[in-house]
Amino acid sequence: MNARTGTTRTGTVLRVPPISPELHAATGERYDAVDLPGDPTDPGVADDPARAAFLAEHGGDVVAIVCSNLSPVPASLIEALPRLGVIANHGVGYDNVDVDVALARGIAVSHTPDVLDDAVAETALALLLAARRRIVTADLFVRDGAWSKGAFPLTDQVSGSRVGILGLGRIGRAVARRLEAFGCAISYHNRRPVPGVGYAYAASPAELAAGVDNLIVIVPGGPGTEGLVDAAVLDALGPRGLLVNVARGSVVDEDALVAALQEGRLGGAALDVFAREPEVPAALLVRDDVVLAPHVGSATHETRAAMRRLTLDNLDDWLATGTLRTPIPEMSASPGEGGER
Ligand code: NAP
Ligand code: 8YV
Repeated sequence: MNARTGTTRTGTVLRVPPISPELHAATGERYDAVDLPGDPTDPGVADDPARAAFLAEHGGDVVAIVCSNLSPVPASLIEALPRLGVIANHGVGYDNVDVDVALARGIAVSHTPDVLDDAVAETALALLLAARRRIVTADLFVRDGAWSKGAFPLTDQVSGSRVGILGLGRIGRAVARRLEAFGCAISYHNRRPVPGVGYAYAASPAELAAGVDNLIVIVPGGPGTEGLVDAAVLDALGPRGLLVNVARGSVVDEDALVAALQEGRLGGAALDVFAREPEVPAALLVRDDVVLAPHVGSATHETRAAMRRLTLDNLDDWLATGTLRTPIPEMSASPGEGGER
């Protein structure tokens, strides 16, 4: 029995950076926790002598990993932890984790669905409104004193516009509910139509893009969606179309996006996520038809507290009973122990 957490499984919790100071402090208070050293953006284990030495010393004690969507948890790290039983991801998206390798070893993986839907939907709406109504440029216009020389140009209305949602899942539906209040005509594309949903279904991302003014992307990241929004989808959206990406940078072909904007084939973009965060292509930084945010979809005090709570609940449950509160969906499809050990 662990005296601090009242749990039955004992061992060390490995924090894989970057994780928030609050989650770092909370895990330090509850568990015997250590931090993976080395470059947090480098998923490699073998090439980093400090990391290899750390794992040689601590790797045999680690039973749990806590990580965020920016913390790489590759096969090489999982393989260096022979007692690892759970990976608790602070985030709903878990494309940072090598899930196949984890599940093949019976390691449980949790994430944080539902609790962030409202915050991310707000961010999507904020980006859509900011881009269409040119709020960032209007702010600079006032600050620069340009207002005294003339009126700000007219902008495009969101109310009543046609909006496509690529990924009508938990967050996509929270976005759609808000867009209904704006009187928008909503359509969507998933791999399969959602039963009982009244929005129009498009058979492909390109078909969806061709029929809307604004395209909001909120599918999961990872190999299955890499480059899903390619040059053909951007061309279908067209010179008056706006792309909003709150999913993952990997979902949009960033080079094709830059080219489409530069060549006037796409009207604008509002982006919370990028292919190589925190790096943002220089070509985007200079454009006033682009609104940029630093991956803040879920970054409110309320939501981050709820995500932290759920991450800790998953760790506590697993340490106490071997079960998870919010396992990733692949776990129910996984044969064998499924990490419940
Ligand atoms: P979800 O409930 O699983 O919804 C994902 C939706 O995407 C499902 O409707 C799914 O439908 C669809 N989808 C999956 N693969 C697809 C494909 N190849 N083509 C077309 N549609 C596909 O997930 P969620 O909770 O809404 O979260 C979605 C993602 O948002 C997360 O995975 C994360 O990457 C991102 N996110 C970003 C932030 C941020 O800060 N910007 C915050 C939270 C989440 P089908 O299975 O029927 O295709
Ligand atoms: C956060 C996210 O940036 O939940 C996700 O998938 O991308 C965001 O909520 C992240 O997970 C914070 O750790």
